Amino acid sequence: MERKSNFNAGPATLPLPVLEKIQAEMIDFRGAGMSILEMSHRSKEFTAVLDNTKASLREVMDIPSDYEILFLGGGASQQFAMIPMNFLQTGQKADYISTGSWSQKAIKEAKAFGDIQVVGSSEDQNFSFIPQNLEFSPGAQYVHLTSNNTIFGTQWKNYPETKNIPLFADLSSDILCRKTDVSQFSLIYAGAQKNAGPAGVTIIIARREFLEKDKNDIPIIFRYKTHLEKDSCYNTPPVFQIYVVGLVLEWIKEFGGLLKMGEHNQRKADLLYNTIDENPGFYKGTAEKESRSLMNATFRLPSEDLESKFISEASSLNLHGLKGHRSAGGIRASMYNALPFEAVEKLTSFMKDFAQKNS
Ligand SMILES: Cc1ncc(COP(=O)(O)O)c(C=O)c1O
Repeated sequence: MERKSNFNAGPATLPLPVLEKIQAEMIDFRGAGMSILEMSHRSKEFTAVLDNTKASLREVMDIPSDYEILFLGGGASQQFAMIPMNFLQTGQKADYISTGSWSQKAIKEAKAFGDIQVVGSSEDQNFSFIPQNLEFSPGAQYVHLTSNNTIFGTQWKNYPETKNIPLFADLSSDILCRKTDVSQFSLIYAGAQKNAGPAGVTIIIARREFLEKDKNDIPIIFRYKTHLEKDSCYNTPPVFQIYVVGLVLEWIKEFGGLLKMGEHNQRKADLLYNTIDENPGFYKGTAEKESRSLMNATFRLPSEDLESKFISEASSLNLHGLKGHRSAGGIRASMYNALPFEAVEKLTSFMKDFAQKNS
Protein backbone atom coordinates (compact mmCIF):
# COMPACT_ATOMS: atom_id res chain seq x y z
CA MET A 1 0.00 0.00 0.00
CA GLU A 2 1.33 3.47 -0.89
CA ARG A 3 0.34 6.02 1.75
CA LYS A 4 -1.06 9.20 0.26
CA SER A 5 0.64 12.57 0.61
CA ASN A 6 -1.99 13.88 2.97
CA PHE A 7 -2.60 17.65 2.86
CA ASN A 8 -5.83 17.42 4.89
CA ALA A 9 -6.57 20.40 7.14
CA GLY A 10 -7.64 18.29 10.11
CA PRO A 11 -7.99 15.57 11.15
CA ALA A 12 -4.66 15.40 9.43
CA THR A 13 -1.65 13.27 8.68
CA LEU A 14 0.02 11.56 11.66
CA PRO A 15 3.64 10.39 11.82
CA LEU A 16 3.97 6.87 10.43
CA PRO A 17 6.09 5.66 13.41
CA VAL A 18 3.23 6.74 15.69
CA LEU A 19 0.70 4.72 13.70
CA GLU A 20 3.04 1.73 13.73
CA LYS A 21 3.50 1.98 17.49
CA ILE A 22 -0.28 2.12 18.01
CA GLN A 23 -0.61 -0.96 15.83
CA ALA A 24 2.10 -2.82 17.72
CA GLU A 25 0.59 -1.96 21.12
CA MET A 26 -3.05 -2.38 20.20
CA ILE A 27 -3.93 -5.90 21.31
CA ASP A 28 -1.77 -6.16 24.42
CA PHE A 29 -0.99 -2.72 25.80
CA ARG A 30 2.44 -2.87 27.42
CA GLY A 31 1.80 -6.28 28.95
CA ALA A 32 -1.62 -5.43 30.40
CA GLY A 33 -3.35 -8.28 28.56
CA MET A 34 -5.85 -5.89 27.00
CA SER A 35 -5.84 -2.88 24.69
CA ILE A 36 -5.79 0.71 25.94
CA LEU A 37 -9.29 1.05 24.51
CA GLU A 38 -10.57 -1.46 27.05
CA MET A 39 -8.94 -0.40 30.30
CA SER A 40 -10.08 1.86 33.11
CA HIS A 41 -9.03 5.47 33.05
CA ARG A 42 -8.10 4.91 36.71
CA SER A 43 -5.80 1.96 35.94
CA LYS A 44 -2.10 2.26 36.69
CA GLU A 45 -1.37 1.83 32.98
CA PHE A 46 -3.51 4.80 31.94
CA THR A 47 -2.36 6.94 34.87
CA ALA A 48 1.20 6.41 33.62
CA VAL A 49 0.14 7.39 30.09
CA LEU A 50 -1.51 10.60 31.34
CA ASP A 51 1.48 11.54 33.47
CA ASN A 52 3.94 10.83 30.66
CA THR A 53 1.93 12.79 28.09
CA LYS A 54 1.82 15.80 30.41
CA ALA A 55 5.52 15.52 31.22
CA SER A 56 6.42 15.27 27.52
CA LEU A 57 4.28 18.29 26.64
CA ARG A 58 5.92 20.26 29.43
CA GLU A 59 9.36 19.25 28.17
CA VAL A 60 8.71 19.81 24.45
CA MET A 61 6.99 23.20 24.90
CA ASP A 62 9.18 24.21 27.85
CA ILE A 63 6.07 24.99 29.91
CA PRO A 64 6.87 26.97 33.08
CA SER A 65 6.15 25.36 36.45
CA ASP A 66 3.33 27.78 37.32
CA TYR A 67 1.31 26.46 34.37
CA GLU A 68 -1.00 23.42 34.41
CA ILE A 69 -2.08 21.14 31.57
CA LEU A 70 -5.57 19.73 31.03
CA PHE A 71 -6.91 17.29 28.45
CA LEU A 72 -10.60 17.83 27.82
CA GLY A 73 -13.28 16.66 25.40
CA GLY A 74 -15.63 18.92 23.46
CA GLY A 75 -13.15 20.18 20.88
CA ALA A 76 -11.67 23.64 20.62
CA SER A 77 -15.22 24.83 19.99
CA GLN A 78 -16.15 24.03 23.57
CA GLN A 79 -13.32 26.31 24.69
CA PHE A 80 -14.93 29.17 22.75
CA ALA A 81 -17.71 28.95 25.36
CA MET A 82 -15.77 27.76 28.42
CA ILE A 83 -13.39 30.72 28.35
CA PRO A 84 -15.97 33.50 28.65
CA MET A 85 -18.09 31.33 30.95
CA ASN A 86 -15.19 31.01 33.39
CA PHE A 87 -13.56 34.43 33.05
CA LEU A 88 -16.37 36.92 32.46
CA GLN A 89 -19.15 38.19 34.69
CA THR A 90 -22.08 40.08 33.15
CA GLY A 91 -20.88 43.55 32.18
CA GLN A 92 -17.18 42.66 32.18
CA LYS A 93 -15.15 43.30 29.06
CA ALA A 94 -12.94 41.09 26.90
CA ASP A 95 -11.06 41.99 23.72
CA TYR A 96 -11.13 39.71 20.69
CA ILE A 97 -9.17 39.86 17.44
CA SER A 98 -11.12 38.65 14.45
CA THR A 99 -8.90 36.91 11.92
CA GLY A 100 -11.23 34.29 10.46
CA SER A 101 -14.17 31.97 10.92
CA TRP A 102 -12.79 30.37 14.11
CA SER A 103 -12.25 33.77 15.74
CA GLN A 104 -15.78 34.70 14.73
CA LYS A 105 -17.17 31.58 16.36
CA ALA A 106 -15.25 32.36 19.54
CA ILE A 107 -16.63 35.93 19.49
CA LYS A 108 -20.18 34.71 18.98
CA GLU A 109 -19.98 32.42 22.00
CA ALA A 110 -18.36 35.07 24.19
CA LYS A 111 -21.09 37.61 23.46
CA ALA A 112 -23.48 35.53 25.57
CA PHE A 113 -21.33 36.16 28.66
CA GLY A 114 -19.87 39.68 28.59
CA ASP A 115 -19.15 42.90 26.80
CA ILE A 116 -17.04 41.84 23.82
CA GLN A 117 -14.91 44.38 21.96
CA VAL A 118 -13.48 43.42 18.58
CA VAL A 119 -10.24 45.40 18.71
CA GLY A 120 -8.81 44.24 15.39
CA SER A 121 -10.24 42.57 12.32
CA SER A 122 -9.25 41.68 8.77
CA GLU A 123 -12.80 40.73 7.80
CA ASP A 124 -13.24 43.58 5.31
CA GLN A 125 -10.31 42.14 3.31
CA ASN A 126 -11.45 38.56 3.40
CA PHE A 127 -9.20 37.74 6.38
CA SER A 128 -6.09 38.01 4.22
CA PHE A 129 -3.84 39.48 6.92
CA ILE A 130 -3.11 39.64 10.64
CA PRO A 131 -4.01 43.07 12.08
CA GLN A 132 -1.18 45.03 13.70
CA ASN A 133 -0.90 48.06 16.02
CA LEU A 134 -3.82 47.08 18.19
CA GLU A 135 -5.12 49.03 21.13
CA PHE A 136 -6.63 47.10 23.97
CA SER A 137 -9.52 48.16 26.19
CA PRO A 138 -8.66 49.34 29.67
CA GLY A 139 -10.25 46.92 32.11
CA ALA A 140 -10.54 44.01 29.64
CA GLN A 141 -10.36 40.67 31.48
CA TYR A 142 -8.40 39.10 28.64
CA VAL A 143 -7.45 39.41 24.97
CA HIS A 144 -8.31 36.47 22.71
CA LEU A 145 -6.67 35.64 19.39
CA THR A 146 -6.52 32.76 16.92
CA SER A 147 -2.87 31.95 16.32
CA ASN A 148 -3.30 30.26 12.95
CA ASN A 149 -6.28 30.71 10.68
CA THR A 150 -6.77 27.29 9.21
CA ILE A 151 -9.31 28.38 6.59
CA PHE A 152 -7.73 31.64 5.37
CA GLY A 153 -4.05 30.61 5.62
CA THR A 154 -2.74 33.35 7.91
CA GLN A 155 -0.72 33.07 11.11
CA TRP A 156 0.61 35.38 13.81
CA LYS A 157 4.41 35.67 13.55
CA ASN A 158 4.76 37.74 16.72
CA TYR A 159 2.00 37.90 19.25
CA PRO A 160 0.82 41.34 20.41
CA GLU A 161 2.07 42.90 23.61
CA THR A 162 -1.04 43.12 25.78
CA LYS A 163 0.80 44.56 28.81
CA ASN A 164 -1.16 43.74 31.95
CA ILE A 165 -4.13 42.14 30.13
CA PRO A 166 -3.90 38.33 30.02
CA LEU A 167 -3.50 36.89 26.52
CA PHE A 168 -5.59 33.80 25.62
CA ALA A 169 -4.99 32.00 22.33
CA ASP A 170 -6.47 29.29 20.15
CA LEU A 171 -3.47 27.32 18.88
CA SER A 172 -5.56 24.51 17.39
CA SER A 173 -3.86 24.55 14.03
CA ASP A 174 -0.30 25.52 14.96
CA ILE A 175 0.49 24.15 18.40
CA LEU A 176 3.91 22.42 18.33
CA CYS A 177 4.75 23.83 14.87
CA ARG A 178 7.65 26.00 16.13
CA LYS A 179 9.29 27.15 19.32
CA THR A 180 6.86 29.38 21.20
CA ASP A 181 7.32 31.22 24.48
CA VAL A 182 4.42 29.89 26.55
CA SER A 183 4.87 32.60 29.17
CA GLN A 184 3.42 35.19 26.74
CA PHE A 185 0.05 33.57 27.27
CA SER A 186 -2.13 33.12 30.29
CA LEU A 187 -4.12 30.42 28.53
CA ILE A 188 -3.60 28.36 25.38
CA TYR A 189 -6.03 25.83 23.99
CA ALA A 190 -5.78 23.53 20.99
CA GLY A 191 -7.83 20.75 19.48
CA ALA A 192 -5.29 17.99 18.90
CA GLN A 193 -6.34 16.91 15.44
CA LYS A 194 -3.76 18.79 13.36
CA ASN A 195 -0.27 18.73 14.89
CA ALA A 196 -0.79 16.95 18.18
CA GLY A 197 -2.80 13.78 17.61
CA PRO A 198 -6.27 12.52 16.74
CA ALA A 199 -9.58 14.36 17.03
CA GLY A 200 -11.33 14.10 20.37
CA VAL A 201 -9.01 15.74 22.87
CA THR A 202 -8.34 19.43 23.49
CA ILE A 203 -5.14 20.53 25.18
CA ILE A 204 -5.36 23.40 27.67
CA ILE A 205 -2.19 25.02 29.01
CA ALA A 206 -2.77 27.84 31.47
CA ARG A 207 -1.39 29.65 34.48
CA ARG A 208 -2.53 27.74 37.55
CA GLU A 209 -4.17 30.82 39.08
CA PHE A 210 -6.57 31.02 36.11
CA LEU A 211 -7.59 27.38 36.30
CA GLU A 212 -8.07 27.62 40.06
CA LYS A 213 -10.57 30.44 39.71
CA ASP A 214 -13.86 29.81 41.53
CA LYS A 215 -16.94 30.20 39.35
CA ASN A 216 -19.90 28.60 41.03
CA ASP A 217 -22.67 29.96 38.81
CA ILE A 218 -21.81 27.73 35.84
CA PRO A 219 -22.23 23.95 35.46
CA ILE A 220 -19.57 21.92 37.30
CA ILE A 221 -18.48 20.19 34.10
CA PHE A 222 -17.63 23.54 32.46
CA ARG A 223 -15.46 24.85 35.31
CA TYR A 224 -11.72 24.62 34.67
CA LYS A 225 -11.28 24.18 38.42
CA THR A 226 -13.21 20.90 38.31
CA HIS A 227 -10.82 19.44 35.77
CA LEU A 228 -7.73 20.83 37.47
CA GLU A 229 -8.68 19.32 40.82
CA LYS A 230 -9.34 15.92 39.22
CA ASP A 231 -6.29 15.95 36.94
CA SER A 232 -8.43 15.76 33.77
CA CYS A 233 -10.23 12.69 35.17
CA TYR A 234 -13.38 14.28 36.63
CA ASN A 235 -15.22 12.25 34.03
CA THR A 236 -13.84 9.66 31.62
CA PRO A 237 -11.19 11.48 29.60
CA PRO A 238 -10.39 10.77 25.92
CA VAL A 239 -8.07 7.91 26.90
CA PHE A 240 -6.94 6.77 23.47
CA GLN A 241 -6.39 10.33 22.22
CA ILE A 242 -4.22 11.25 25.22
CA TYR A 243 -2.13 8.14 24.58
CA VAL A 244 -1.62 9.11 20.92
CA VAL A 245 -0.72 12.72 21.84
CA GLY A 246 1.96 11.19 24.08
CA LEU A 247 3.33 9.17 21.16
CA VAL A 248 3.33 12.24 18.89
CA LEU A 249 5.31 14.14 21.53
CA GLU A 250 7.87 11.30 21.72
CA TRP A 251 8.16 11.53 17.94
CA ILE A 252 8.74 15.31 18.16
CA LYS A 253 11.49 14.74 20.74
CA GLU A 254 13.17 12.23 18.44
CA PHE A 255 12.79 14.69 15.57
CA GLY A 256 14.91 17.15 17.55
CA GLY A 257 12.27 19.24 19.34
CA LEU A 258 10.45 22.39 18.34
CA LEU A 259 13.45 24.31 17.00
CA LYS A 260 14.06 21.55 14.44
CA MET A 261 10.31 21.25 13.81
CA GLY A 262 10.10 24.99 13.13
CA GLU A 263 12.94 24.71 10.57
CA HIS A 264 11.26 21.72 8.92
CA ASN A 265 7.96 23.61 8.62
CA GLN A 266 9.68 26.76 7.34
CA ARG A 267 11.48 24.75 4.63
CA LYS A 268 8.23 23.22 3.43
CA ALA A 269 6.39 26.55 3.49
CA ASP A 270 9.24 28.33 1.63
CA LEU A 271 9.18 25.74 -1.12
CA LEU A 272 5.42 25.98 -1.56
CA TYR A 273 5.14 29.79 -1.39
CA ASN A 274 8.13 30.20 -3.74
CA THR A 275 6.37 28.00 -6.26
CA ILE A 276 3.26 30.19 -6.02
CA ASP A 277 5.30 33.40 -6.36
CA GLU A 278 7.33 32.06 -9.30
CA ASN A 279 4.10 31.55 -11.29
CA PRO A 280 2.36 34.87 -10.64
CA GLY A 281 0.04 34.78 -13.65
CA PHE A 282 -1.27 31.37 -12.66
CA TYR A 283 -1.19 30.91 -8.88
CA LYS A 284 -2.30 33.63 -6.52
CA GLY A 285 -1.74 33.32 -2.78
CA THR A 286 -4.76 34.56 -0.84
CA ALA A 287 -2.85 35.68 2.28
CA GLU A 288 -0.62 38.75 2.36
CA LYS A 289 3.02 37.66 2.34
CA GLU A 290 3.90 38.79 5.85
CA SER A 291 0.88 36.95 7.28
CA ARG A 292 1.34 33.65 5.45
CA SER A 293 0.80 30.54 7.52
CA LEU A 294 3.43 27.84 7.89
CA MET A 295 0.65 25.32 8.28
CA ASN A 296 -2.05 26.07 5.68
CA ALA A 297 -1.11 27.59 2.32
CA THR A 298 -4.18 28.89 0.51
CA PHE A 299 -4.15 29.92 -3.15
CA ARG A 300 -6.29 30.36 -6.22
CA LEU A 301 -5.94 29.42 -9.87
CA PRO A 302 -7.25 31.50 -12.79
CA SER A 303 -10.68 29.78 -12.73
CA GLU A 304 -12.78 27.40 -10.66
CA ASP A 305 -12.69 24.91 -13.53
CA LEU A 306 -8.91 24.87 -13.40
CA GLU A 307 -9.07 24.45 -9.62
CA SER A 308 -11.28 21.36 -10.01
CA LYS A 309 -8.94 19.97 -12.66
CA PHE A 310 -5.95 20.68 -10.38
CA ILE A 311 -7.53 18.80 -7.48
CA SER A 312 -8.50 15.86 -9.62
CA GLU A 313 -5.09 15.52 -11.33
CA ALA A 314 -3.31 15.92 -8.00
CA SER A 315 -5.47 13.19 -6.56
CA SER A 316 -4.47 10.79 -9.33
CA LEU A 317 -0.86 11.35 -8.18
CA ASN A 318 -1.82 10.47 -4.59
CA LEU A 319 -1.69 14.15 -3.53
CA HIS A 320 -4.70 14.21 -1.27
CA GLY A 321 -6.79 16.82 0.60
CA LEU A 322 -6.04 19.94 -1.44
CA LYS A 323 -9.55 21.36 -1.80
CA GLY A 324 -9.99 24.69 -0.01
CA HIS A 325 -12.50 25.00 2.82
CA ARG A 326 -16.06 25.10 1.50
CA SER A 327 -16.47 28.70 2.72
CA ALA A 328 -13.29 29.96 1.02
CA GLY A 329 -12.95 27.88 -2.15
CA GLY A 330 -9.66 27.55 -4.02
CA ILE A 331 -6.81 25.31 -2.96
CA ARG A 332 -5.45 24.71 0.54
CA ALA A 333 -2.31 22.70 1.19
CA SER A 334 -2.01 21.94 4.88
CA MET A 335 1.55 21.12 5.85
CA TYR A 336 1.41 20.02 9.45
CA ASN A 337 4.42 18.63 11.32
CA ALA A 338 3.97 15.05 10.15
CA LEU A 339 3.84 15.95 6.46
CA PRO A 340 7.24 15.02 4.99
CA PHE A 341 9.27 17.53 2.96
CA GLU A 342 9.10 15.08 0.06
CA ALA A 343 5.31 15.49 -0.09
CA VAL A 344 5.75 19.23 -0.69
CA GLU A 345 8.43 18.51 -3.31
CA LYS A 346 5.99 16.23 -5.07
CA LEU A 347 3.20 18.82 -4.88
CA THR A 348 5.35 21.71 -6.09
CA SER A 349 6.71 19.74 -9.01
CA PHE A 350 3.11 18.90 -9.97
CA MET A 351 2.20 22.61 -9.57
CA LYS A 352 4.96 23.70 -11.96
CA ASP A 353 3.93 21.11 -14.48
CA PHE A 354 0.24 21.96 -14.19
CA ALA A 355 0.90 25.70 -14.62
CA GLN A 356 2.99 25.08 -17.71
CA LYS A 357 0.38 22.85 -19.33
CA ASN A 358 -2.63 25.03 -18.48
CA SER A 359 -1.34 28.60 -18.73
C1 LIG B 1 -8.08 27.39 14.58
C2 LIG B 1 -9.21 26.47 14.90
N1 LIG B 1 -9.93 26.68 16.02
C3 LIG B 1 -10.96 25.88 16.35
C4 LIG B 1 -11.33 24.82 15.57
C5 LIG B 1 -12.50 23.97 15.98
O1 LIG B 1 -12.02 22.80 16.52
P1 LIG B 1 -12.97 21.61 16.98
O2 LIG B 1 -13.53 21.02 15.75
O3 LIG B 1 -12.00 20.72 17.71
O4 LIG B 1 -14.03 22.17 17.87
C6 LIG B 1 -10.60 24.54 14.40
C7 LIG B 1 -10.95 23.39 13.55
O5 LIG B 1 -10.44 23.16 12.50
C8 LIG B 1 -9.53 25.40 14.06
O6 LIG B 1 -8.82 25.18 12.95
